[in-house]
Formats: sequence, C-alpha cells, structure tokens
Amino acid sequence: MAQTHKVTFKQSGITIDVAEDEYILEKAEEAGLTLPYDCRSGTCVTCSQMCLSGEIDQDMAFAIDDDDAEQGWRLICIGSPLSDVELDI
Ligand code: FES
Repeated sequence: MAQTHKVTFKQSGITIDVAEDEYILEKAEEAGLTLPYDCRSGTCVTCSQMCLSGEIDQDMAFAIDDDDAEQGWRLICIGSPLSDVELDI
C-alpha cells in the first residue's frame, strides 16, 4: 500500500491526505476544491501551482520547463506527493 502524505492548500485553509500513487488534483476535487485544469495529462500547465514546501513527483510533466520547476511550480494533475506538501492556493 502506498504511503500517504498531507497536502495543504494554504490560501484555502484545507489539508487533505494524498497517497504516493494518487494525483493531487483528483483528491482535491474529491475534497470539494475547484481548481483550474485542462488536459489532466501534464501537457498544458493549466493546473500549475506553486509548491511552498515538500516534494511532488511529476515525472510526466512534459509541459513545464526546468526554470519553472526550479522556482517551485508543479503540475498537480499528474503530481503525487513524496512528502507532506504545502501549495500556495
Ligand atoms: S491540466 Fe494540463 S498540465 Fe495539468
């Protein structure tokens, strides 16, 4: 069974549990959050969110460049937490 981490949406004041084999966007929607998305496959960057702390696995994030990733932007439609995470939304 995959390990679960806390994902906090700082501005929304919501924290949810997301497993390492689940996508943050999908779990946030299940929790009632309405977040922007389009492709849901890592190719458009509509779902991009600033990660303030923690590690997010986004191996399939083909649309995000190294500079944006270095600044902390993550594609949460294909992003899974590898630790507890705080997002600036
Ligand atoms: S919704 Fe398109 S990259 Fe996430």
